[in-house]
Parts: sequence; structure tokens; C-alpha cells
Amino acid sequence: MSALKLIRYGAWAAVAALAIAAGVIVSLQMTSNDNGGSLIEPLSAIGGPFELTNGNGEVVTDKDMTGKPSIYLFGFTFCPDVCPTTLSEMQGWIMSLGEDAGKLNYAFVSVDPERDTPDVMRDYVAAFDERIVPLTGSRDQVDAMLKAYRVYSKKVPLDDGGYTMDHSAAVYLMDADNRFVGTIAYGEAEESALKKLKRLIEKAPASS
Ligand code: NI
Repeated sequence: MSALKLIRYGAWAAVAALAIAAGVIVSLQMTSNDNGGSLIEPLSAIGGPFELTNGNGEVVTDKDMTGKPSIYLFGFTFCPDVCPTTLSEMQGWIMSLGEDAGKLNYAFVSVDPERDTPDVMRDYVAAFDERIVPLTGSRDQVDAMLKAYRVYSKKVPLDDGGYTMDHSAAVYLMDADNRFVGTIAYGEAEESALKKLKRLIEKAPASS
């Protein structure tokens, strides 16, 4: 094995160790909540400040997502299946919550800001529910948020010269202080998802 190979393996091992450490923490804390709709203790390692732009071109920061709990989906408007499926599920959750739906913030954050301009995001999200806030920004602004929120995304070239985006599919659940308290997995049963959302609403209001 060459020195270069060793260095490469070493770098990959370090990345893998970090990913495993983060994953183990999250999965350990989540093992007890599967179908009970319970949430974990706020995890400060995931989340933090961000500054993005909504569908009307207005600045939105993490501060705007406090005061009530929030749910975030990270994706892109060209997404062939995961994003439209999850957004229509989110639309269903909002309808099922009825009056309580107003007790949560809803956000769809683009991982593909080059194509997802505020106008594109607004029109796309409006097809699901106007209460879901579309968020995009410069590549740097989006990357900063994806890093802080530990969201995986990767540009994948397509044969036709275009590209698609691989990305994390889980819906993030944040408390009223915008602290990470759990996820709804892609394809999770509606009953389980609604239990988690109701639990999120019941939780104590913002500490400030
Ligand atoms: Ni998607």
C-alpha cells in the first residue's frame, strides 16, 4: 500500500468515524421513540443559526423559526419522488392537525439554490400548502445551513448533461427554541408522524 493510499484510507476512516459517532448518538436517543411519538432531549450538535430567503425574497433566519416548534424538509424542486411525496404527506399532516396546524412552522429548504430561486420555490411549494415556507439562498448560505443541520446532499450528474441531487430525506423536528428534537423518517406511517407532531406541539413553549 502506497503512502498516498494510506493517507486516503486514513482520511476516509476519520470521516467514517465522525459519521458513525454522530449517527450513533442520534440513533441511541431515538431507539425508544419509534412508534410512541416521543421526542429526544434537545440535541445542540444539530442545528443553529442560518440566514436564507423566502419565496417573497425576504430574509428569514433561525430567529424567525423560534416561538413555536418547526419542521424542516431539505430537498429541491426538481426532485423526482422523495420531495413531492414528503411535501404531500406534510400537506396531509397539516390538514389532519386542523386548528393545531398553526402551532408549528413549516419549511422546505432547497439543497439546489442554483435552480431553486425564490420564485421557483414559491410556486412549487404553493402547490402543496401555502403554510410551508420555501427557503433558499446563495450557495454559501445554503451550504452553511446544511453543514450546521448535518444534512447530506450531493450533486449527481445525469447522462443528459443535467444533474440531480442526492439528499437526506428525513423531516427535522425542532422545538420552539429551534433545537433538534427528532425526525420523521421518509415513508414513516402517518399515525406515527402525527403522534410526533402532536408531541412537538405539546412540549413546553420557547424558553426565552
Ligand atoms: Ni428530494
